[in-house]
Amino acid sequence: MNRIIFATQNKGKIVEIKEIMEGCEVVPMSEVGFEGDIEENGTSFEENALIKAKAVWEKTGGLVMADDSGLEVDALGLEPGIYSARYLGRDVPFKEKMDDILRRLEGVADKERTARFVCAVAAVLPDGSSQVVRGTMEGRIGYEQAGDKGFGYDPIVVIPEYGRTVAQLTADEKNAISHRGKALRLMKERLAGGVL
Ligand code: IMP
Repeated sequence: MNRIIFATQNKGKIVEIKEIMEGCEVVPMSEVGFEGDIEENGTSFEENALIKAKAVWEKTGGLVMADDSGLEVDALGLEPGIYSARYLGRDVPFKEKMDDILRRLEGVADKERTARFVCAVAAVLPDGSSQVVRGTMEGRIGYEQAGDKGFGYDPIVVIPEYGRTVAQLTADEKNAISHRGKALRLMKERLAGGVL
C-alpha cells in the first residue's frame, strides 16, 4: 500500500484525510518522528502547504503531503483566511473565534454573508519534485453556531444546498463536498499512475 506522510498535527484533519485517501496508508508526521511546529510564513494557502510538506520531506524523504486551509468571509475582506487557526490567538477556543465573526457580521444581510473554506494540498514526491492543488467549498455564515460534528469553524458555515451547517453534515456528506476532499481527490488523480 502506498504510504503518505501527512504534515499535520490536527487530529480532525487526519481522520478526514484517511477517509478520503482510502487505499493509501496515511501516517501523521508525529509517527515518523517529526515533532514541533513548522513556521507558516507564506502569504497564500499554497505557499504555506508547500512550506510544511518540504520541511517534513527534508527529514523523512518519501511521499509527503501537507495542507493549508482556512475560512474566507467576503464581508470581512476574506478574513480570517490564512490566519484562521491563529485568529484572535491560537489558544482561543473556536467557540470564541466564531462568536467574534458572528458579532462582526451583525446587520449584514444574507446575500452578503458569502464565505468559503479553502484548502491547498501540496505533495513533495520521493524525487523532491512538488505539486500543489486547491479545492473550495462555498457557503454562507449563519446567525448562530449549530451542530457538533467536524471541527474548527464548521458550526457557523451554512451550505445552502443542504440548508445545514457543515457541523450538521455527516462525515460522508462533508467529505463529498469539502474543500479538503476536493483538493485531495485532485492530488490523487494527479499522482495516479506515478507514485500512487
Ligand atoms: P491549518 O491547520 O493551518 O491549515 O489551519 C486550518 C484552520 O482553518 C483550522 O484550524 C480551522 O480553523 C480552519 N479550517 C480548515 N478547514 C476547516 C474545516 O473543514 N472545518 C472547519 N474549520 C476549518
